[in-house]
Order: sequence, then structure tokens, then C-alpha cells
Amino acid sequence: MNLLKGFGFELPTRIEYGPGVIRTLPQVLAQLNLQRTLLVTDPGVQAARLLDPVCAQLDQAGITYECFSAVAANPKDYNVEAGATMAREFGADGLVAIGGGSPIDCAKAMSICATHDGAPRNFERGRNVTEAVLPLVAVPTTAGTGSEVTFSAVITDSLENYKFSIRHTKIGPAVALVDPELTISMPPALTAATGMDALTHAIEAYTSMVAEPLADAAALYAIELISRYLRTAVDNGRDLEARAGMLMGSLLAGMAFSHADVAAVHCIAEAMGGRYDTPHGVCNAVVLPAMMRYNLDWCRAQYARIGLALGLTATDEARGAQRAVAAVEQLAGDVGLPSFASFGVDPADFELLAENSVKNGSNPSNPRPMAAADYLAVLEALQAGS
Ligand SMILES: [Fe+2]
Repeated sequence: MNLLKGFGFELPTRIEYGPGVIRTLPQVLAQLNLQRTLLVTDPGVQAARLLDPVCAQLDQAGITYECFSAVAANPKDYNVEAGATMAREFGADGLVAIGGGSPIDCAKAMSICATHDGAPRNFERGRNVTEAVLPLVAVPTTAGTGSEVTFSAVITDSLENYKFSIRHTKIGPAVALVDPELTISMPPALTAATGMDALTHAIEAYTSMVAEPLADAAALYAIELISRYLRTAVDNGRDLEARAGMLMGSLLAGMAFSHADVAAVHCIAEAMGGRYDTPHGVCNAVVLPAMMRYNLDWCRAQYARIGLALGLTATDEARGAQRAVAAVEQLAGDVGLPSFASFGVDPADFELLAENSVKNGSNPSNPRPMAAADYLAVLEALQAGS
């Protein structure tokens, strides 16, 4: 229990939720007094034709906008620079990010770089953010990152192949338009990977060294929703209730981890994403059960409580914790996520991955203290398939 520790809780984002809520975008922009908007998205969102109705609405409302769509997966520092340059040249007074975590995180970093000098890495961990940033409206089209309510962005340093975080309340979106209808077109594999990312956020936040009660509440309900709806969302993407449950689970998990942090699963996933450009959600899904086993003795009570949120029953804490780990493993298997071996990670890279995991700002939040040797042990267990 963490009721005797002090904490602060700030949520700078106004959340507007509901099927069809995207249609209020012109009003939201008017409320924010934004006249020249830069849309930030990626080729996947464009291919899914999610942008067309948004542009039609903006055209109809007579809103001036341009579109920056060159955001890559695991957004790169050069994407941020190109987008910020475009925002400056266009004279944008605000940004609308439409997509998964990549466009939203890229837009957050752009919101700083459009009003500050210096490369994106200059703002790592929120350093040097001295000026106002461009206001951002975030519109998630996946149910995973929770980036629409977090005030962090993860960007890849393309020279070092290293993912770094910018964390500052100024980059929290002004408004999140959270519309489950926009997630309907996600294919099953993306639904599975992003859903497991959200589950990882909730579990890591709940077991974090800096967990606190409000984040705990959000994390536990997120776990409940994700475990209830992920399989259905993967099997039948047109089930709007399942899509809504996953999007709400992802949002709650985002609220949880933006206050209580993530931990070692993300440290490994980000080290792998930086090195191999592997999709973030897939990395998390594959690493999560192994890391839960490694952490088990350090957070047995929390895992047992997670077991209850997963709908499990157990006669004692130790058994409850074991069952929770097994249930997460089962869920990852049921939604068809690949094995660690399928990433083709070269064991010669393990040391570098372990070092980069230790360097990650979230490493101290893991319930079990993790040195490079610990990360090596987890990577070797993953490689051995256990
Ligand atoms: Fe994540």
C-alpha cells in the first residue's frame, strides 16, 4: 500500500470521449482559438483513409490547414525536425495529431521544436523547455499508447539508434478526442500488439516504485477492461463495444503510467526498438511475461491484485501472483503475438541492449533493481524461450 506517501497528480488534457466525437474537431479548434492547423499523421493512417473525413470537416468549416504525414514508426529525430520546420514555415498556431503513438509522440516533440532552437535530443527528459509550445489536439486511432493523455514522447536518436524520452507537462495535449469508431479499421495484428502495449503500461504502472493511489485505480480498471475485451477486438474488429473497452483501457493505462512511470519491460522494448526498429507494442508483448516472472518475488502482492483484475481467483497471494503471470502469458499467446526468436535479435547485441536498458529513465521504477546483468539474464531467458 502506498497511502502514506505524498504525491501530486496533474492531468493537463481535456478528454472528450465517445463514438463520433471526432466530428467536433472544428469546434474544438475554434475553442482553442486555432486558425492555422498542421495535421500530423503517418502513411498507415492515410492508407486507412482515416484522414479524408477529417479534412472534409475542416474544409467545410473553412479552417486553414496543412498536413505533415512523414512520421515513421518509432518516430525519428529527423521526422520531428522536418515537421517542426513545416509548422514554422506554414505559421501553424496549433497541431492536430491523428494516429497511433508515433504521430502523437512526434507531434509532441514538434510542438517544442517549433518554438525552441535545438535538436530534439536537446529536450531529453524535458530539459531546456523554456518557452510556450504549440497547442496540440490528439486523436488516437489505435488503442495502445495512451499518448493522447500522457505528457511524454519517445523519439529515436537516429545516429545512436537509441530511443529517448521527452517528458514535460507542457507537451500534454490540450484536448484528446477519443473516438472508438476510429480504431475499427485496425488489423488484428496491430490490435493485438497495441493492446498488449496498453496492458504493459497498466501492469508496469501498478507495480512501479513510484506507484500512487490515483494511478493504481486507473491501472487496475485498465487491466480489467483490456483482459475483458482484447481477444474480442482482435477476433472481431467491428465489435464497437470491444473497441471502446480497449480504447478506454488504453487511455486509463496512459493516465496511470504518465504518473507512475513504466519499468523494465519498456526499458528492453525501447532498447530493441532503437536498435532494430521493431514495433513497440510487439516488443512489449513478448518481453512482458518473462519480465513478470523475473519480478515476481519483488511484487507478489501487486501481481496477486492484478490477478483479481484479470478475473482470476486464488487461495493465497503466491498462487494469485503466479496465476496472474500465467494469464498474461496466455493472453499474449491467444492474440497471436510472435516469439522473441522471430525478431532475429543477435545475441552479440545483448550487452548493448542491456546497457541501453539500464540507461533508460524508467529503469529505477522497476520493482526489482535491474543492473545490466539482470537485463542480460532476462534477454537470455527470452532467447531460450522461457
Ligand atoms: Fe508503451
